[in-house]
Amino acid sequence: MKKNNALTLKPVRTIVIIILIAFVLILACFISLREYAAKRDYEDKILLNLYGKQRMYTQSISKDAGLIYTFLLNQNANNNDLYIIENGYRIDDIRESLRNSKQSFLEIFEATQSGYLTWDSYELNFSGFISKASSHIEDIKNLWLNFDNAIMIILEADEINSEVTEAALYINNHNLELLDYSEQIQEIILNESIKSSGRMEMLFRVLIVLFSAITIIALFHLVRFIILPFNQLYQGLSQIGLSEIPVKPGFPTKKKVIPMVNEISDIFLKIEDLISLIQNMNNNSSFTEILDFINTTFSKIIPYNYIGIALLSDDKTQLSASYGVSDGLVLGLPENLMGLSFELNETSLEELIQSGSSRIINDLEAYAADKPKKTYNQIILNAGIRASITLPLKVSGKPVGIIFFSSMNKNVYHEGHLNFLETLANSIAISFYQTTYIDNIIYSSVLALAKLAEARDSDTGEHLERMKTYSRIIAETLHENDMYANQVTWEFINNIERYSPLHDIGKVGVADSILQKPGNLTKEEFEEMKKHALYGAEVLRYAEQNMERQGHSLFGLGIEITEGHHEKWDGSGYPYGRKGLEIPLSARIVAIADVFDALTSRRPYKEPFSPEESFKIIEEGKGKHFDPDIVDLVMANKYRLKKAYKNFATVPH
Ligand code: C2E
Ligand code: SIN
Ligand code: SIN
Ligand code: FE
Repeated sequence: MKKNNALTLKPVRTIVIIILIAFVLILACFISLREYAAKRDYEDKILLNLYGKQRMYTQSISKDAGLIYTFLLNQNANNNDLYIIENGYRIDDIRESLRNSKQSFLEIFEATQSGYLTWDSYELNFSGFISKASSHIEDIKNLWLNFDNAIMIILEADEINSEVTEAALYINNHNLELLDYSEQIQEIILNESIKSSGRMEMLFRVLIVLFSAITIIALFHLVRFIILPFNQLYQGLSQIGLSEIPVKPGFPTKKKVIPMVNEISDIFLKIEDLISLIQNMNNNSSFTEILDFINTTFSKIIPYNYIGIALLSDDKTQLSASYGVSDGLVLGLPENLMGLSFELNETSLEELIQSGSSRIINDLEAYAADKPKKTYNQIILNAGIRASITLPLKVSGKPVGIIFFSSMNKNVYHEGHLNFLETLANSIAISFYQTTYIDNIIYSSVLALAKLAEARDSDTGEHLERMKTYSRIIAETLHENDMYANQVTWEFINNIERYSPLHDIGKVGVADSILQKPGNLTKEEFEEMKKHALYGAEVLRYAEQNMERQGHSLFGLGIEITEGHHEKWDGSGYPYGRKGLEIPLSARIVAIADVFDALTSRRPYKEPFSPEESFKIIEEGKGKHFDPDIVDLVMANKYRLKKAYKNFATVPH
C-alpha cells in the first residue's frame, strides 16, 4: 500500500470546500436581502415624496387659479394696487407660481410616463411595470390637456369673461380628480415595486434555504461517510494497538485530521508488516527466524529490547526459557535465560497461564521488590529489563507457554500494545504450532529410530542422554570462551544438544553380528561398520526431504553431526577423510563427546575406562583425532564432564 495523504484527504477537502462556498453564498444572499430592503425603503420614500409633491402642485394650481380669478373679479370694483396691498400678493407673483406649479406637475407626469423618476441623483426605474398604470396615465393625460388649457386661459386673462369663468370652474371642479389619479398612480407603482423587489427577496430567501440545505447535506456526508468511519477505523486500529494517539470521537478539526491521516497511513504501513509477518509464518523458516522477524519489524510499533518465549513442560508444571531474541542492548539475554526452568506454581505466571490473560508490568523493579527473589526476575532485571508485557501462548485453546515482550525503559507499555500483541500472540502460537510442534513430532520420530539403533549396541538407554549432556557441556565451554563466537550462539548450543543423540542413527543399517561382536572387528567388518555415518546422514536427508513442505531445514545440523562425527582432524577419519576446519564444528564437538562416552562405557568389545584414563586418551588425540583448541577447552573443564559422568554413573555404562 502506498502512502497517499492527498488521496485520503480529498473527499474531506471537497466537502469542506462545498460547505465553505455554500456558506459564502448564504452570506451573500443575506447581504443582498438587506440591500434590497434598504433600496425598496428608499424608493418608497422617493415615490411618496414625488407624488406628494405632484399633489401639492395640483393644490397650488387650484389655489393660484382661484386667486387670479378673484383678482380679475375684483379688478373692476377696486383699485389694483390697493387689492394687492390688502391681500399681500402681487398678481405677477401668483401668475409665476401658477406657471411653475404647472411646469413641475408636468415634469413629474412626463417622468411617470417615461418610467424613470429622478430624486437627487438617484434614478428610480419602474419602466418594467408602468404599463400597469397605463389607463390611469391615459386618464390624467386627457384631464391634464383640459387643465393645461384652462391654466393657459387663466394666465392670459385680463378680465372676466365666460371662457375664463369656465376655465376657473374646470380647475376647481376637477382638482380632486387629478389628485386621485396621482394617488392611484403612486399606489400602483408602489405596489408593483414592492411586488418586484418582493420577488427578488423571495429568490434570495429560496437561495438561502437551498444553500443551507446543501451545507447540511455536506456536513452530514462529512460526519456520516468520512468522519465517523475515519474515527471508527482509527479507534479500531488504536484498540489493536497500531496507533498511539488516543482518539476522542467527534468532529475533527483540520489540526486533528492531518496528523490522523498521517497516522492512518503509518498504520497501513504497519498492517503491511503484519501481512508479511503472517506470510512469513505460513511458509517461511524456523520459529527462531520468525521471532527474529517479529523482533525487527515490530519494534516500530511496540518498544521492546527483548522477546522471550518460555514453554510449558509436558506435565504443565514447569516453564523453561526456550527462545529469545534481543536487540543486542540487553546484557546476557537470551544466554542467561536459555535452558532455565522453573516451577510454574512458584511464579505469578501460573495464574496467567490458567486464566489465559495477559499482563503489563511497567515497572519491573517495583514489581519484583516485594516478591521473593526469583532467578529469572533477577536475570532480566540484571539484563536491564524494566517493563514487560507477558502473554500466554495457546495452541487449540491449550496453553503451551508464555511470550514476553520486554523493554529496558519503564512505563512504555499501554493497553493498546497489549491488544495488538494479543492478536499477534495467536499468530505466534499458530506459527509455533506449525513449525516447532510439527518439528517436534518429526524429531521425536527420528529420535525413536535413533533409540532403536542404540538399543542394539549399548547396555542401557542412557547413551543418548549422555551424548546430549556431554555435547552441550563442550559447546557451552566454547561459548563461554568466545571460541567460534559467531557460530556458537545459544540456538546452536540448543541444536547440538538436540541433534547429538542422532549421530549413530545409521547403526540401524549395520548387522547385529558386527554390532554386537564381543571381540575385535575384522577389516571387512569394520569397513561395514564405517558405513553407519553415511547411512545415518542418508536417513536424516530423507527425513529432511519430507520436511521441505515445512519450508525450512530441520535436520541440517543433525546431518552434519551424523556424517562427520568419525572424521579426524588430521584427515585419517571416515567417511570422507575431511581434515581440520573442513569438518563441521558440530561434528568436531560431538566427536569428542562420542569418544569420551565410548571410552567410559562398557561395550560388547571392551571394558570401560575411568574418566581420567579417557581424558588421557583424548588428549593424546589432540591435533590428530580431535580439534586441538576444543581439546584444550575440554581439558580445562574436565570437572564438568566428570560431574556429569558421575550423575550418570548410578546406572552401569
Ligand atoms: P563406539 O563403540 O560408540 O565407539 C565410538 C568411537 O570411540 C570409536 O570410533 C573410537 O574412535 C572410540 N573408541 C571406542 N573404544 C575405544 C578404545 O578402546 N580405544 C580408543 N582409543 N578409542 C575407542 P570407531 O573406532 O570409528 O568405531 C565406531 C564404532 O564401531 C564403535 O562405536 C563400535 O560400535 C564399533 N566398533 C569399533 N571397534 C569395534 C570392535 O573392536 N568390536 C566391535 N564389536 N565393534 C567395534
Ligand atoms: C524468556 O524470556 O525467554 C523466558 C522468561 C522466563 O524464564 O520467565
Ligand atoms: C513474574 O511475575 O513471575 C514474572 C515477571 C515478568 O513478567 O517478567
Ligand atoms: Fe559412530
